[in-house]
Amino acid sequence: MSVRIVLGAQWGDEGKAKIVDYLTADADVVVRYQGGANAGHTIKAGDLVFVFHLIPAGIVHQEKSCVVGNGVVLDPVALFQEVDDLQSRGISVEGRLFVSDRAHLVLPYHKALEQASEEKIGDDAIGTTLRGIGPTYQDKINRSSGIRVGDLLDSEALPEKIRANVRAKNEILEKVYGVEGLEEVPLIEEYMAIGERLTPFITDTSVYLNEAIKTGKGVLFEGSQGTLLDIDHGSYPYVTSSNTTAGGACAGSGIGPTCIDEVVGVVKAYTTRVGNGPFPTELNDEMGQRIRDIGHEYGATTGRPRRCGWLDMVIVRMACRINGLSSMAVTRLDILDEIEEIKICTHYTRDGQRVDHFPSDLNVLAECEPVYETLPGWQTPTSSIRSYGDLPENALRYLERVSELAETPISIVSVGPDRDETIAVE
Ligand code: IMO
Ligand code: MG
Repeated sequence: MSVRIVLGAQWGDEGKAKIVDYLTADADVVVRYQGGANAGHTIKAGDLVFVFHLIPAGIVHQEKSCVVGNGVVLDPVALFQEVDDLQSRGISVEGRLFVSDRAHLVLPYHKALEQASEEKIGDDAIGTTLRGIGPTYQDKINRSSGIRVGDLLDSEALPEKIRANVRAKNEILEKVYGVEGLEEVPLIEEYMAIGERLTPFITDTSVYLNEAIKTGKGVLFEGSQGTLLDIDHGSYPYVTSSNTTAGGACAGSGIGPTCIDEVVGVVKAYTTRVGNGPFPTELNDEMGQRIRDIGHEYGATTGRPRRCGWLDMVIVRMACRINGLSSMAVTRLDILDEIEEIKICTHYTRDGQRVDHFPSDLNVLAECEPVYETLPGWQTPTSSIRSYGDLPENALRYLERVSELAETPISIVSVGPDRDETIAVE
């Protein structure tokens, strides 16, 4: 069995969970390795729809185990909401959900700080999901204030750690932002109880995963967010606070790069983004609204309308390069079924010069104009098609042009949210 990474090639919401769900058939363990409850991973299994924010989507397969790795920032309240929701739907996580002792904890003061900061910045805010992701990673990097999952096991030291943090954060909340701080006693009591409940799940997940790999088990890494939201390589500062790219899977789970057999980049057949920041192929017109309506492009975590635009191959090529993609899974092809003419951005131009690579400087990016190639639409429903060769000719033409421009093969095409609405490209 192989070790695979599935990750987003754009700005998130590419349909990663659907591809993870499909590929879980070949895996024994599914792993989240970065991000936190900012993710919104939706899978559809028959009439059932599940939205996961923290637990790997593989959990719906009762015989698989799931790992929340050290690179994740874990909001235990959100985690237990998911556990309870699964349990109420007859899915137990006991004995098959493993949470890294090294993962950092999101506490309510992280969310309060993020909210206050975003409000203070106003128009130039990042437009985060307000799940406390950035402030928790700040505490992790800062080292003096981070609290890890493993700290929950030390019930003697924990109250003081939380107390010291609440006091320090309250000072910032009150003096810098002028908002009310948090009460320390109820918070300490809540997290002591959380510690007790989380204890059976706490594991050295690097040891667990390396053992699984050594014994030939299939491991699937479920990326969250997307390449352009990577803290190093994305459209900084309008990014998330973790490495969403393939390298993040090693650092965020404690496995070596030589263990990885395959990296699958999930590419939505058009582009979307939620939150603020640059988006060269954005469609602020009827076509953008049409794609949003057909694709129900509203955030799974925050409900915000997603910004929609044409497929941008500058971005996809960047995803191929940074992640070393073995192949691409193209999703939501069916959303384009009705569109008369479909555009692909092949490159940008700036001051009459060709630009092939996504610039790091957003002022430079703002001066870039997308250059499009127009392809005829197929105007035929594709959702019932199960074999690549049966796709309409113009859909094949579109996919083949995407693969050619990315210099990367397509291994999967998704034509609907259901598990079986998937085409494996031989
Ligand atoms: P999945 O895994 C799309 C965006 C936010 C914001 C920026 C920073 O479902 O693809 P954060 O809360 O992470 O500090 O916000 O990143 N963002 C996502 N956009 N899909 C996601 O996750 C996202 N997670 C964060 O909208 O622009
Ligand atoms: Mg999502």
